[in-house]
Amino acid sequence: MPLQICRTSAPKPHIPDAELGFGHVFTDHMLLMDYTPETGWHQARIEPYGPFSLEPATIVLHYGQSIFDGLKAFRTPSDDVVLFRPQRHLKRLNTSAARLCIPPLDETLTLGALQELVRLDTDWVPRTPSCSLYIRPTLIATDPTLGVHPSRTYRFFVIMSPVGAYYPEGFKPVKILVEDRYVRAVSGGLGAAKTPANYAASLLAAEEARAQGFTQVLWLDGIAHRYIEEVGSMNIFFVIDDELVTPPLDGSILDGVTRDSVITLAHSWGIRVAERRIGIDDILAAHGAGKLTEVFGTGTAAVISPVCELFYKGHAIIINDRKVGPWTQRIYDALTAIQWGISPDPFGWIVSVKQS
Ligand code: COI
Repeated sequence: MPLQICRTSAPKPHIPDAELGFGHVFTDHMLLMDYTPETGWHQARIEPYGPFSLEPATIVLHYGQSIFDGLKAFRTPSDDVVLFRPQRHLKRLNTSAARLCIPPLDETLTLGALQELVRLDTDWVPRTPSCSLYIRPTLIATDPTLGVHPSRTYRFFVIMSPVGAYYPEGFKPVKILVEDRYVRAVSGGLGAAKTPANYAASLLAAEEARAQGFTQVLWLDGIAHRYIEEVGSMNIFFVIDDELVTPPLDGSILDGVTRDSVITLAHSWGIRVAERRIGIDDILAAHGAGKLTEVFGTGTAAVISPVCELFYKGHAIIINDRKVGPWTQRIYDALTAIQWGISPDPFGWIVSVKQS
């Protein structure tokens, strides 16, 4: 499929890296592609970043038939620009698409178009190592009709944002409220798909937690309200008795790319990793026995987010004296060194945007 490119005639001024937050600033260009059952995905094009119009009746605005993903590009010390595990992100986008009755993208063609987009806006990739270019591929249902059924037509678009730390705290331990009333998702529902409904479902709990001084919530399962699922919009890991423990991919949590990267790194270091169900009571017991030494969240946006406190039913569980633990630090250092091109990439995670 040919990729049409229409360059902006009005490039925007850049924001200094030190002033970047998360997702407020967008680059000069975006990628677009449309789908109809007759032509499949067609008209791949790069255009200046800007608004596009939708009829008020458009399905996505009413029934949320939409998915997205999030990946990052980094600038290496040799001034190459690399994507972190883009194939895995595009594969997950297609897994989310299948759950939402959205037609799949050609992952190879999409990766090529994505590389072209990043090449075009390569100046927007920050030069400060802790900053990156966050890339947001999104797929929306575009039929203008109010019947509840899958759309016939779709739009795919990719926008990009130079970003600093996701949490204002940066790589600092955060306080988390264990949520025992609201739930994010249930097995068999949408929890494993990266779809806006999951994020909408999280807002009220997050706002209430924030009002009480917590950065995010720890989600428990939707049935027993006992088993640990995710932390905010991230996967969660515990270090218990020198074992790295994380909930299994059983249908209600996201198959995080950072989660998989952490597990792969830990295995390569000979660390014991268990993907198993773990109850909040197991966490309390492990903490009581002095065996819970570290807790951290993992996600593309924040990478690794250390947790210093879990607050559950009126009791504060303090982790590692509120300090970043050695496993958390080692994992963060190793992962970001690969992403920033500072250390070798033995796993084949890095993909250059240079023309091959
Ligand atoms: C991620 O860390 O990848 C996320 O899902 C957070 C994003 C929704 C901002």
